[in-house]
Amino acid sequence: MADRARNGKVTVVGAGFYGSTTALRLAEYDLFETVVLTDIVEGKPEGLALDINQSRPIEGFETRVVGVGGGSYAGTEGSDVVVITAGLPRKPGMSRMDLIETNAGIVRQVAENVAQTSPDAVVIVVSNPLDEMTALAQLATGFPKARVMGQAGMLDTARFSNNVAEELGVPVASVRTLTLGSHGDTMVPVPSRCTVDGTSLADVLPADRIAHLVDRTRNGGAEVVALLKTGSAYYAPSAAAARMARAVICDSGAVMPVCAWVDGEYGIAGVYLGVEAEIGREGVRKVVEGDLSDSELAGLREAAEAVRAKQADVADL
Ligand code: NAI
Ligand code: 2OP
Repeated sequence: MADRARNGKVTVVGAGFYGSTTALRLAEYDLFETVVLTDIVEGKPEGLALDINQSRPIEGFETRVVGVGGGSYAGTEGSDVVVITAGLPRKPGMSRMDLIETNAGIVRQVAENVAQTSPDAVVIVVSNPLDEMTALAQLATGFPKARVMGQAGMLDTARFSNNVAEELGVPVASVRTLTLGSHGDTMVPVPSRCTVDGTSLADVLPADRIAHLVDRTRNGGAEVVALLKTGSAYYAPSAAAARMARAVICDSGAVMPVCAWVDGEYGIAGVYLGVEAEIGREGVRKVVEGDLSDSELAGLREAAEAVRAKQADVADL
């Protein structure tokens, strides 16, 4: 891979579990010139960056990772993509919403710095509560809404697919699923768009098993938190955010479920919500409206109203 053209800079803010695994995945793609990993803690991002760089001769990638601690943004200037992972993760028994005040302060401060240092970046937010933090990051950066999106749908959809594959004992590659809505209680798994080897999920599983898998998907994050006891998931979440950053830098036009600004699609307007969107160099090229059953559409509209109220609140946090 040594002769491959690499371009662009991606900054990952927050060198915790989510941020460091995202930086590793992005570096291993060997697509970016530079991955910058930052944190308020001094030494942690520098140490993790050195560790990742030392893996390059073994894994065979040339992308360099630069660690920047102490809350500095030196070295992040002009990033093409910024992934915001800074913030507290939840503990067992906590909802994502319990993090809102603390993480709003962190995300606002990070977003203001990003706007100053990387004014043309596409921003991918992962800090929780996701839908609200995405809306806040857009407000605090002042960036066009298409250039700020959140990661949730890729993760929730992956969990749904994994649940279906495990239930049926089939390869995950044969399973297609979809989740829309919020990254929370009003998540909308979409069974009508799910297939196994091209056959509708409803034709391979009884309704009560599908309902069980939908429920498990909705609680997928809490299931991991309960097992870990401290902190939340990061392997699947980082895979999701890294794929979004890759779609941006490659200008791929990939259609993926993300938290995007919705402006009339599905009869919903003026809110950040989990929908399918085409992703490219400018962020969200367009929201892609797919077929939904009546109850799924009702669920999506309910999710929109639930997050709309909370998104209005974060403006004052
Ligand atoms: P973590 O605690 O391992 O790492 C958070 C890092 O943020 C820490 O290293 C901390 O020092 C840093 N940080 C705090 N304030 C900062 C600031 N102002 N500037 C720069 N860095 C700062 O937590 P983890 O597991 O990495 O999770 C991070 C966030 O991602 C949490 O809010 C968590 O809930 C969220 N998350 C979201 C998911 C999603 O699907 N959207 C999935 C999993 C986690
Ligand atoms: C997750 O879904 C906690 O949002 C995090 O794993």
